[in-house]
Amino acid sequence: MPDHFLGTPATAPGPLGPEMLKDFALIRRNPLEFLFKSWRTHGDVIQFPIPKPPTYLVNSPTGVRQVLVNNAKNYDKLTIQYRALSLVTGNGLLTANTDLWRERRPIIQPAFHQKVLDNLIPVTRRAADRMLSDIEGEVAGSVTDIDQFMLNAALEVVGEFLFGSDLSEDANAITAATLEALEIVIKRARVPLSPPKAVPTPGNRVLKRSLRTLDAAVSSIVKSRESVNPKTNPQEVSNLVDLLLAARRDGRIDLDGIRDEIVTFIIAGHETVASALSWSIALLAAHPEKQNRVAEEARGSSGQTIDSKIAQMPYTQAVFNETLRLYPPAWLITRKAIDADCIDGHDIPAGALVITSPALLHQHPDIWSDPDAFNPERFLDSYPRESFIPFGAGLRQCIGKDFAYVEGVMILASLCERLEFAFPAGEGLPASDPLVTIRPVGGVKLRANRRS
Ligand code: HEM
Repeated sequence: MPDHFLGTPATAPGPLGPEMLKDFALIRRNPLEFLFKSWRTHGDVIQFPIPKPPTYLVNSPTGVRQVLVNNAKNYDKLTIQYRALSLVTGNGLLTANTDLWRERRPIIQPAFHQKVLDNLIPVTRRAADRMLSDIEGEVAGSVTDIDQFMLNAALEVVGEFLFGSDLSEDANAITAATLEALEIVIKRARVPLSPPKAVPTPGNRVLKRSLRTLDAAVSSIVKSRESVNPKTNPQEVSNLVDLLLAARRDGRIDLDGIRDEIVTFIIAGHETVASALSWSIALLAAHPEKQNRVAEEARGSSGQTIDSKIAQMPYTQAVFNETLRLYPPAWLITRKAIDADCIDGHDIPAGALVITSPALLHQHPDIWSDPDAFNPERFLDSYPRESFIPFGAGLRQCIGKDFAYVEGVMILASLCERLEFAFPAGEGLPASDPLVTIRPVGGVKLRANRRS
């Protein structure tokens, strides 16, 4: 271990400058693979040869917990990852730093209360039915890209449940704008010296166009709910947009803030769930006996509340969990250390960038046996909850976690109950591309046949 990286004291092992330079193409092409390689070569706490900010990868179960939970107050979100994302989302709940987050979370939290989430069951059922008839409308047995259906269904659910809006007509445009905008965000996050947003580079032009589409969707969502007045019809104030508009009337948020929250929820609640669902179906297509088990379980379930619904489908939930373990959509969680800290005996200076990754922790051999295998059964018994972090952990844990389980489990069950998915002959799981979420390269192209 060297003493210094260009004047920054080295406090943990890690790749040296020449090794990192050799991996430059890999870092650009697949940063997750680079993190895996660094972890496997250098260990659980690594320092990269980057002086400003000093940059660490933490992948010990104790270290990750310290950053996200036990000493979370020492870590904020002022990192390149969240700065890049905020080009699209502005200062919404996901990217907000601590003070703003404290103001916003109480405004938004009621939209996710358990009782409210029971209403998600019929909304998800409608989206699943529509998706089923769309898939069945394609020629039976022909190859179809399941990923595209998942993206549109997930958007439909967010639109109806959180915004009280039917986004299905504009689903393709909004989905395309989201994916395009996020792709630009990723390109910027991978190249720290990107030109500012105002410079008309090809990437910035695409970003501007995508933002126009998203902003137009936001305007029409806000317009459609503005007429709901909580004083005259309080029973109708239920969804996220209603809560935000009510907070605006009290002076707790302005219109720009509302825009940022709506875009945040389109982004955070849409592609994440769709990715998890696409990978789930892909893994089930690769494991027909497990797919049959999901289909059997779906036939017997009829719960009307979230608790009863999920409790009746433990195997389907285990499949969803195992997919989130292998392909955690939010594969990167970064923080900036406010004050100096010490992680597993390594000094972390104030201002350091600390990188953690659910994808890496979910492969830790001290925690998970046979970590590469698709084995949903591991989630049927007790499992290491503290090291299963697809939704993050601690105060900034995902607000949409329960939402994602209801939607994920119900859509998986509905699809497998009616259809049987298989890869075309000679094909298997797609390669993965770690963009903002872990995306299947080229989609998930499967044959879908009606179950007998
Ligand atoms: C499988 C699906 C999902 C995954 C894997 C996921 C993952 C995550 C993770 C890892 C975080 C924490 C980020 C951090 O600590 O830096 C997070 C936060 C967040 N997620 Fe999710 N998410 C999912 C679904 C959803 C849904 C459905 C919604 C909304 C409907 C949502 C909205 C949010 C928001 C607003 C935050 C910020 C919460 C806060 O800081 O208070 N997510 N998500």
